[in-house]
Amino acid sequence: MTDTAGVPLRLSSFIGRKKEMGELRRLLVHTRLLTMLGPGGAGKTRLATEFARSQSHRFADGQITIELVEVRDPALVPDAFARAAGIRLQAEDTIGTLVHRLISSEMLLVVDNCEHLTEAAATVVARLLAACPRLVVLATSRERLNLDGEVVWRLSPLALPQTADTSRTTYLPSWRSAVDSTGCRLPSSWLQREHPAFRRPRLWPVSTIVFAC
Ligand SMILES: Nc1ncnc2c1ncn2[C@@H]1O[C@H](COP(=O)(O)OP(=O)(O)O)[C@@H](O)[C@H]1O
Ligand SMILES: [Mg+2]
Repeated sequence: MTDTAGVPLRLSSFIGRKKEMGELRRLLVHTRLLTMLGPGGAGKTRLATEFARSQSHRFADGQITIELVEVRDPALVPDAFARAAGIRLQAEDTIGTLVHRLISSEMLLVVDNCEHLTEAAATVVARLLAACPRLVVLATSRERLNLDGEVVWRLSPLALPQTADTSRTTYLPSWRSAVDSTGCRLPSSWLQREHPAFRRPRLWPVSTIVFAC
């Protein structure tokens, strides 16, 4: 499901990343291809989609997300672009059709999860950027696309602060009570993956949770 800005809707609130949003904004004024690198779970997809949503004023034809995570066959990468852009492809020269339809579009393309199809994604992106002067691409991947002019930008996982004053640490019985009592919306899946302390959350330090919000 996508919102009116053409990017996926999220159910949890977006935490932090002010500095990173600012850097993306600055870099994407001067480059038309930025690849965000980072380990799985670092928050690349989330940051890229939140960034795209924040740019709705900048691109006359909006922004779209091309989601590659479920695409297994490199030959189907152009179809993923076409689906996201609402373009019906002709049988031959699929990339040519994409170019033809997007040639005068002013649009941000978020190309998400390129790592398993780097070469195929790079081929489509290179053709589009060479032919369509007002397209800008923000790719997320675990490896770069290796294209001329590509700016590679690394994203680190969100850091949880260490609680300096442990005497003030209050423990809560579960994730749900933490949410209820603080009004926070932490991404529990992310916390559990990134922070071993949260993997079997029976008792979580509330001071840490409050700070992280
Ligand atoms: N800044 C954030 N605020 C809220 N949730 C986040 C944030 N960053 C990541 N998440 C959540 O953490 C999970 C993993 O993030 P994701 O963007 O999919 O990582 P990656 O794309 O690097 O593998 C997702 O559920 C995502 O919504
Ligand atoms: Mg991702």
